Amino acid sequence: MSLGWGIIGTGGFAGNATAPAINALGSEGSLVAVVSRDRGRAEAFAKQHGARRAYTGYAELLRDPEVNIVYISTPNAQHAEQAIAAARAGRHVLCEKPLALTVADARRVVEAFEAAGLKLGTHFQTRHHTAFVEVKRLLDRRAIGDVTLVQVEAGAGAGPLRSWRADPALAGLGSINNIAVHPYDLLRYLLGSEVREVMAMTDAGRSAELERMVLALLRFQNGTMAYVNANQKIAHYQPDIDLYGTEGRIVGIDCTRPFRDGELRVVTQAGEQITKHSSRDAVVRSVAAFNDAVRHDREPNPSGLDGLRNAQLTEAVIRSAREGRLVEVAY
Ligand SMILES: NC(=O)c1ccc[n+]([C@@H]2O[C@H](COP(=O)([O-])OP(=O)(O)OC[C@H]3O[C@@H](n4cnc5c(N)ncnc54)[C@H](OP(=O)(O)O)[C@@H]3O)[C@@H](O)[C@H]2O)c1
Repeated sequence: MSLGWGIIGTGGFAGNATAPAINALGSEGSLVAVVSRDRGRAEAFAKQHGARRAYTGYAELLRDPEVNIVYISTPNAQHAEQAIAAARAGRHVLCEKPLALTVADARRVVEAFEAAGLKLGTHFQTRHHTAFVEVKRLLDRRAIGDVTLVQVEAGAGAGPLRSWRADPALAGLGSINNIAVHPYDLLRYLLGSEVREVMAMTDAGRSAELERMVLALLRFQNGTMAYVNANQKIAHYQPDIDLYGTEGRIVGIDCTRPFRDGELRVVTQAGEQITKHSSRDAVVRSVAAFNDAVRHDREPNPSGLDGLRNAQLTEAVIRSAREGRLVEVAY
């Protein structure tokens, strides 16, 4: 069965990454319709990516009988209401990160999909980067023993927050929602553990201004500790990850951000093994995984619950930074 996709939000990431990934589904899925607030943009995007219909409101898209899956790629503040509307209209949803701006809204979204018996995914595509498929496989077979410490840097270059990302009402948070949510999700996934407590600082200090750099110390329930640096403030950033285990070490170079070519260095008692990896096809793989989850009635990876867990964690991170104290994550 071929599934029909609809896109709400014809912006940069939808155009550069997700629409091409939907078109790469071949016989298993296709792009049916897109929504922009502007008719000309909707039609231009539809033409460029081969969508059959162009709409100017998402209610129209949700009535299109050929749309089975809705991909939401609008400013963060719109995700929750659009996802809930899609659930009420009987559509599965792959929602861009963050799933919602608050824990309460993320929970409402998850509950709407549970009640409707529909699939909900949160778009943390880094899980599908082949480097992290390999890291997960290595950790699950305890190739480096117990993971004691993880260090992650995820940067997006130095520059001001632009467009809706500069508006707290639409963005919610700055580099936390833009960038940090990816490594936070990745670490939960790789370690198979939730974060127990957080100590964080941002470049906005204790103020409510949108941050462009967030440094977080995380203690996981399984005892692993992590340091995550997510920023839009460092010109010559290095998107690397280091995982230190009791019996080895994994270093991922140029791995933690989209559209990068990098490598994994795995050091165990057997010596060092280096493999090349690219994050360029992570979105292709994550879109295919969500399409498969719908086709075969499986829980999506990552799921809506992963979006809720991420919201709970980011709420603890920003509270820690603004209150200047260690915060336990509330689940
Ligand atoms: N998974 C990832 O790695 C990744 C990477 C980048 C972005 N994202 C997420 O994807 C979503 C979109 O990000 P983007 O970078 O693609 O942003 P973008 O280029 O600005 O696109 C957002 C689109 O939303 C629509 N929109 C509706 N209401 C809007 C408003 N009030 N202001 C501005 N745009 C509005 C616009 O389309 P129309 O003007 O056509 O209506 C706009 O093109 C965000 O939630 C972001 O967090 C995820």
